[in-house]
Amino acid sequence: MGAKMGQIVLIICIMISTISAQENRDLESLRGLKRAWKNTPPSWDDGSDPCGGSWDGITCKNHRVKKILLPNMGLIGDLPRYIWQFSELEILDLSYNKGLTGSLTSEVQNLTKLTNLILVGCSLTGPIPDSIGNIQSLNYLSLNSNGFTGQIPPSIGNLMNLNWLDLTDNKLTGSIPVSNKRSPGLDMLTKAQHFHLGHNQLSGDIPPGLFNSNMKLFHVLLNNNTLWGPIPSTLGLVTSLQIVRLDSNSLSGNVPSNISNLTSLQKIYLSHNKLTGPIPNLTGMNDLCYIGLSNNTFDDQFGVPSWLLTLPALETIKMHSANLKGELPAALFTIPQLQNVDLSDNDITGTLDISSNPSTQLQLVDLRNNRIGDFIQQSEYKHSIGLILAGNPICRENDVNDSFCRTPTKTAPYSTPYNCRSPSCDSGLELSPNCQCAYPYKGSIFFRVPLFSSLVNSTFYTSLHDSIMVFFHKEGIPVDSLSLKNPQIDPNDYLMIDLEFFPSGEQKFNRAGIIALVSALNLGTFIAPKEFNFYFFIPETETVYTFMSEISGNGGAKRKSSNIGLIVGSVVGGCVLLVLLVLAGMYSFRHKERAEEAPRHSQPFALWDPTSGSGDVPQLKGARSFTFEELQNCTNNFSEINNIGQGGYGMVYKGNLPNGQLIAIKRARKGSSQGGLEFKNEIELLSRVHHKNVVGLIGFCFDKGEQMLVYEYIVNGTLKDSLSGRTGIRLDWMRRLKIALGTARGLQYLHDHADPPVIHRDVKTTNILLDERLVAKVADFGLSKPMSDADRTHVTTQVKGTMGYLDPEYYMTQQLTEKSDTYSFGVVMLELITARKPIDKGKYIVREVKEATNKDKKLYDLHEILDPTIGLSSDLNGLERFVDLALRCVEDRGNQRPAMSEVVKELESIMALVGLNPAESLSSHLTSYEGASKDYDYPYSNDSLFSYTGGDSSTKLHTK
Ligand SMILES: *[C@@H]1O[C@H](CO)[C@@H](O)[C@H](O)[C@H]1NC(C)=O
Ligand SMILES: *[C@@H]1O[C@H](CO)[C@@H](O)[C@H](O)[C@H]1NC(C)=O
Ligand SMILES: *[C@@H]1O[C@H](CO)[C@@H](O)[C@H](O)[C@H]1NC(C)=O
Ligand SMILES: *[C@@H]1O[C@H](CO)[C@@H](O)[C@H](O)[C@H]1NC(C)=O
Repeated sequence: MGAKMGQIVLIICIMISTISAQENRDLESLRGLKRAWKNTPPSWDDGSDPCGGSWDGITCKNHRVKKILLPNMGLIGDLPRYIWQFSELEILDLSYNKGLTGSLTSEVQNLTKLTNLILVGCSLTGPIPDSIGNIQSLNYLSLNSNGFTGQIPPSIGNLMNLNWLDLTDNKLTGSIPVSNKRSPGLDMLTKAQHFHLGHNQLSGDIPPGLFNSNMKLFHVLLNNNTLWGPIPSTLGLVTSLQIVRLDSNSLSGNVPSNISNLTSLQKIYLSHNKLTGPIPNLTGMNDLCYIGLSNNTFDDQFGVPSWLLTLPALETIKMHSANLKGELPAALFTIPQLQNVDLSDNDITGTLDISSNPSTQLQLVDLRNNRIGDFIQQSEYKHSIGLILAGNPICRENDVNDSFCRTPTKTAPYSTPYNCRSPSCDSGLELSPNCQCAYPYKGSIFFRVPLFSSLVNSTFYTSLHDSIMVFFHKEGIPVDSLSLKNPQIDPNDYLMIDLEFFPSGEQKFNRAGIIALVSALNLGTFIAPKEFNFYFFIPETETVYTFMSEISGNGGAKRKSSNIGLIVGSVVGGCVLLVLLVLAGMYSFRHKERAEEAPRHSQPFALWDPTSGSGDVPQLKGARSFTFEELQNCTNNFSEINNIGQGGYGMVYKGNLPNGQLIAIKRARKGSSQGGLEFKNEIELLSRVHHKNVVGLIGFCFDKGEQMLVYEYIVNGTLKDSLSGRTGIRLDWMRRLKIALGTARGLQYLHDHADPPVIHRDVKTTNILLDERLVAKVADFGLSKPMSDADRTHVTTQVKGTMGYLDPEYYMTQQLTEKSDTYSFGVVMLELITARKPIDKGKYIVREVKEATNKDKKLYDLHEILDPTIGLSSDLNGLERFVDLALRCVEDRGNQRPAMSEVVKELESIMALVGLNPAESLSSHLTSYEGASKDYDYPYSNDSLFSYTGGDSSTKLHTK
């Protein structure tokens, strides 16, 4: 046996040395980056292990580099060849390092696992290499605001997983590539939702072949190029489109009439072109809120087109210099949502009438340089509407002191108020809104499509301010206070607000703080309030932020070893470890029985104290035991900021393991009486339970009188939070179906496949967590009950659970069966469609839905009771069957309820009916991760840790 084992060890050692050669190549490359760049974080200390968790911005798994996040670090230097050597790298973000020069070489294709390539706002030049089309995993490509030249490589069309293509603001030339027999093109990107190609020097026609009906595009942004020729009628085939920007080109000819097929369109920008013919008839675009048609040579038009008055969502009309003649109909100003009208430089005559029921939203009416002789307005609106009539006869004749005859300024003076009188700060330091003197980190946030037009309403800014601060607090990003300043509309029609972040506790941020802050904004983890819509953040790059020096200069002296030494060391180390493991395995094999007698001798059992009355040593599979210090270290000593929740059991903390893994730690309240047994119960259960739809246990801590459970961290929180709107994640019907199915599968697994089977006993929306891809995960096994074969049918037990979800039969008989979980799941299903609490002001959701259901009517006549954010009622396919299923689950008698396996089957068949493939990965439907608005996207649909959401960073780099 010994010899055989030796051979195996040898073979495995050879395998390990191959793997560790690659590991070491990663480490070597990281050290190469350090040598190649100035201003790498001080924590990049030569002696420490780059993958050991101490190098800021580097995330590894099994000693392979997975993420490099170094936004706005002031890095200076070329992109070295090392950067293309990370064959396991998934996310590379080097945005806003103005000092980064060089170009992408064809070796970029060596990053075969890359999903996100984010190099915004550096100083990269040269062409984008063709080989980029070989990175099949690429999902998110942002190269905007650099100096890239040459053509858009046609090979990008091969990136079948690409969701987000952003090449804005470069010096790209040539035409937009489309596929033909010989070469690929962008028309092949049928999964993409974003083409952001504005602010380049692209020329030629917009090729008709660029668009087809298989595409799922939301945004097509081609503005500020030199494209000419007509707008292709194929654009009308992409009915998913929400925003189209073709402004500031040289497009000519008639606007194709089938553009009116784009009924999901929210914003259309055609300004600053040479378009001719009639103004396109946009009747039927019921979501359209922005029309920009300024500066074209459309046929003379008398008044404004009458179909404008039929658009219910319209907020902004920009028809500056658009050959409008004649009088304006008074009805124009009654469009209910209308906020902003620019009809300047036309030939509008007669009397302006804003007297009959103008929109209460109306903010600004710009009619300068027309021929308006008089106007009628109700006095109550006189001051609330900004009216500009400069350059009209009414102003020439009258006293120019009338406010409407002056040209207003565009900025609204606003800044976050200070909580004190201003003491003075030493030079360089600035006063924070909390009256601390510190070095703020500065930048600007841009909103391309805010849903409001008024800049003077300060409630918008306070809500933005508060939501950013709440987010930072939740994420543990060390920002003490935040100042918002100078909101204004920039030349590209974006709302821009200057931001100053003040560090918490220190005068300066450290690197880790800035990486967390910028990544969260830059990569869109933060979701802005819905009226702001999607955003991008541009840090101030003019001055490099001087970071707090975290590590003193001699930190590198800790431990140095040559690379050869390292390789040899780790191979030898690996083998020694392996031999030890094998020996340990043999030992434990031989001493299996004795091991339990002497629990203190081997981890993790040593930490378990059998004298505490908690029964036997926990039987663990795969869960590890943590010391109190380890958990203390990864939660900032259980700081307030890491606290993410609490329950009857105690507090929940977020932590970050040295390997970068995020964890959630459930820490039992000291002296919590429900201690021992349930704790052990949960560890044992969870460590045996491994399923995609069940929260995984990583380990536990039973040390220093503490009881803690360490779970994987589930980024998007509880289903309840999302249903209540607190997370800003919009759950449409598809998502709710997926969540129901995921939960049902998790429960089915517990009932039918876990060993021993488990009844959850506390299924409710606060025990269902959503991960970064909104995959549902069943959590909280504190009350779970393993079933032995003998009590497979029922278990008699003291009734536990949560009111509103509790199976009435179980409650009355105290006999617990799997059908009790079915009942609670039925309540969750009803909550999913109504977003109501199970018991609310004395109303019980089960009764409410039963009573409201009228099976003769469409959607069972449940409109009143449905959650309004679930989506348009016309899209709620399968809702009736869903309700039928939910009502079967909440039958009074357990034997009339379906088993979870049946529930899973029925949900799968509902999904198939809706056209979703229940087996398919979530990406296609969940990539649009709508943070409360349709414009949110979810670019990071692969298994990234972050819940990144639609940071749109496609614009010119803002320089002051
Ligand atoms: C990229 O891959 C090629 C082929 O495998 C290899 O020859 C080259 O050295 C690699 N380049 C880098 C920088 O790793
Ligand atoms: C884009 O074009 C518009 C109008 O032609 C112009 O006002 C604006 O400055 C341009 N933007 C940039 C960043 O060049
Ligand atoms: C699109 O528009 C064209 C022309 O206006 C029309 O003939 C066609 O039926 C429309 N297609 C769809 C799918 O609505
Ligand atoms: C615009 O289109 C709608 C619907 O297609 C039609 O009813 C209406 O008459 C058209 N308006 C004009 C001014 O052509």
